[in-house]
Amino acid sequence: MLRFLDEHRDRLRGQALEVGDDTFLRNHRDGGISDVDIVDIDEGNPRATIIGDLSMPGLLPADRYDVVLIAQTLQYVADVHVALESCWSSLRPGGRCS
Ligand SMILES: C[S@@+](CC[C@H](N)C(=O)[O-])C[C@H]1O[C@@H](n2cnc3c(N)ncnc32)[C@H](O)[C@@H]1O
Repeated sequence: MLRFLDEHRDRLRGQALEVGDDTFLRNHRDGGISDVDIVDIDEGNPRATIIGDLSMPGLLPADRYDVVLIAQTLQYVADVHVALESCWSSLRPGGRCS
């Protein structure tokens, strides 16, 4: 994943969303990423800015992110289709989901 992100670093721009923490995007904060929201189902995660289940429709704000990274999470999500729809809907025009 780190290699993938390095190879696509020119696409890592603007407001971003990662799950659980910013493990993968933190290295790009000095580059194009301006801010990272953290979503997590775990209410005890102090870093989370959005608490909830990605399987819940409407969890993510619409039209907010330039980058959504869900690298190692879909295997834990009960409804992958809802989660992906939510991620797509949260993208701004030209945004990317990986
Ligand atoms: C492996 S970590 C993510 C690490 C890395 N930041 C990433 O994006 O791949 C998985 C995270 O997903 C969270 N998680 C698991 N199921 C979830 C769900 N249904 N909705 C939201 N977050 C979930 C876990 O609590 C955990 O913080």
